[in-house]
Amino acid sequence: MTAVIKMEKVSKFYRKVPAIRGVDFDLRKGEIHALLGENGAGKSTLTKIMAGVVEANEGRMLYRGKETRFSSPHEALQDGIAMVFQETSLVPSMSVAQNLYLGSENFLNRLRGINISAQQFLQSLNFGVDPKAMVESLGAASMQMVEIARAVHHNAEVIIFDEPTASLTPEEKHYFFGLLKRLKQSGVSIIFISHALEEALEISDRITILRDGELVMTGDTKDFDRDIIVSAMVGRELSDEIYRDDSVRTLRKYGKKVLALHDVSKGSMVRNTSFSIFSGQITGVFGLIGSGRTETFRIVAGVDKRDFSRGGEIEFEDRKVRYVTPTDAVADGIVYITEDRKGEGIFDSMGIGENLFGGILAAGKNDNWVVRKSDVRKLASTWIEQLNIKTINAEAQVVELSGGNQQKVVIGKGLAQNPRIVIFDEPTRGVDVGAIAEIHQLINDLADRGIAVVVISSYLPEIMNLSDRILVCRQGRIVEEFSPHDATQEKIMYASVH
Ligand SMILES: Nc1ncnc2c1ncn2[C@@H]1O[C@H](COP(=O)(O)OP(=O)(O)OP(=O)(O)O)[C@@H](O)[C@H]1O
Ligand SMILES: [Mg+2]
Repeated sequence: MTAVIKMEKVSKFYRKVPAIRGVDFDLRKGEIHALLGENGAGKSTLTKIMAGVVEANEGRMLYRGKETRFSSPHEALQDGIAMVFQETSLVPSMSVAQNLYLGSENFLNRLRGINISAQQFLQSLNFGVDPKAMVESLGAASMQMVEIARAVHHNAEVIIFDEPTASLTPEEKHYFFGLLKRLKQSGVSIIFISHALEEALEISDRITILRDGELVMTGDTKDFDRDIIVSAMVGRELSDEIYRDDSVRTLRKYGKKVLALHDVSKGSMVRNTSFSIFSGQITGVFGLIGSGRTETFRIVAGVDKRDFSRGGEIEFEDRKVRYVTPTDAVADGIVYITEDRKGEGIFDSMGIGENLFGGILAAGKNDNWVVRKSDVRKLASTWIEQLNIKTINAEAQVVELSGGNQQKVVIGKGLAQNPRIVIFDEPTRGVDVGAIAEIHQLINDLADRGIAVVVISSYLPEIMNLSDRILVCRQGRIVEEFSPHDATQEKIMYASVH
C-alpha cells in the first residue's frame, strides 16, 4: 500500500511545550483514517501541519513520496490537500455560494451563475442549505455543511475533516458518511477526527490514537473496539461507562418555579409554546434540529425577541419579563451557554481570565471600578482547576487552547456569572470522553446547589442520563413531558417526530 502522506518524527512546540512530539503517521491512498485522542492530544496540530496551517519544528513530511513543506493552507489546497476546520473558516458576511467558490479563479466572472451551481452542488451532497443565505445567519450544522461542501468542491486528493459531525443530526450524518464512502471509492484519502468513537469505528479503515502529543497506537479498525480506544486515549481504564443504565437513580424533586412561558411565539420557529422550569432540577430538552428548541431558549436568554404582538408571556420568578438583550437576562441570573463559542463573546486573542471576567462584568456582579490583574489571574486559576482546562498556564490566550478546552472556557464564563438558571445548549459537543463525565458532574452539582438547569441535547443517552424530567420539542413547541423512569429512547424519538 502506498502512502500519500507520510509524517516522520514530527514535533511542534508552542513556547517550548510540545503539542506533538516525534509522531510517525501515514495516510494511504483511498483510505479513511480516524485520528483519535483526548482534548489537547494534538490531533488538530498534526493535521494542520499537513495542511500548511502550522509549521513543524522537527521531522519531515513526504507527500506523494516527495519531501514537502507548505507555507500556507492555500498552497496545500493548490497541491491537493484540503482541510475542514474544527473552527469555522467561512466569511460570515458573504453568502453560502460565495464562500463555496471563494478562491476559484473564475469567481468574479461567475458571480451570476454561482447561486445556481451552488444549489446543484449542495443538492448533490444532500445538504439542505440555501446558497443565497448569509453565512452569519446559519446555525452550526449548516455552517459545518458549507465547510464540508467547500472542501469537497476543490477536488482534493486528501481531505482532512476535523470534527465534521459534531453538530449534524443523525440524518445529516448518514448523508455525510455516504459522501465519505463515495470520496474514498474515487480514490480520495481521508483523515477523520472525531470524539464520537462509534462513528470512527463504523466509518474508518484504520485508526491512530494520540495521547499527550505522542503516538500511542495505529492499526486496522477491525482490531479495535470502544474499550481498546478509550484506554489507549486516556492511558487507563475508565471505571464507569458514561452512559450507564441508571433507570433506578433517584430523580430530583420539582423545586420552586423560576421560569414560566405562556404561549410564546416567534415567527414560524416557535409557536405557542408553554412550559415551566424549576429550581434544583435538571430539565432535559430533546428535539430534532428545526424543532425550535434552540430558538425557544434563545428567547428566554434575551438573544432573540419573541413576536411583539401575540408573542405570549414570560415570567421569571413571578414577574413578567421581556429581555431586549442577553445582558438583561444575565442581570437576572439567566445564563445561556451555547455550542457556538465565537457568537457568544469568547475572544480568542484574550486570556482565559479576561474572558471569564468579561462574564462577571456582564452580570453586573463586580462592584470594583478597577480590575486587578491578580484577580483576573485568580479567577482563571479557579476555573482552570474546576473544569480541568488543559493549558500551558493561567495567562494563556484562548486561541492557544485546543477546541475542547475552548468549550470549557465558554462553560466557565457562564458559571462565573453566578446564575439562577443555566441553559446548556449541547454542552459536551467536541469534548472528549473523560471531559464529558466531568461536565456532567458539574451539571449535576449545579442542580444540587439549587440552580435551575436546562440541558438541550440532540444526543438521547445524554438526555436520559442527566435529566430529572424530559421535555420534547416539536414544530416550535414543547409537546410532551416524560419522567426518565418511564421514558425510553424510542418513546422520546417517537414524540419528537409524530
Ligand atoms: N496556537 C497555539 N499556541 C499555543 N499552544 C497551542 C496552540 N495550538 C494548540 N496548542 C496546544 O497544543 C496542544 C494540542 O492542541 P490540539 O489543538 O492539537 O489538540 P486536539 O487534539 O485537536 O484537541 P481537541 O479535541 O480539543 O480539539 C494543546 O495542549 C494546546 O493547548
Ligand atoms: Mg482539535
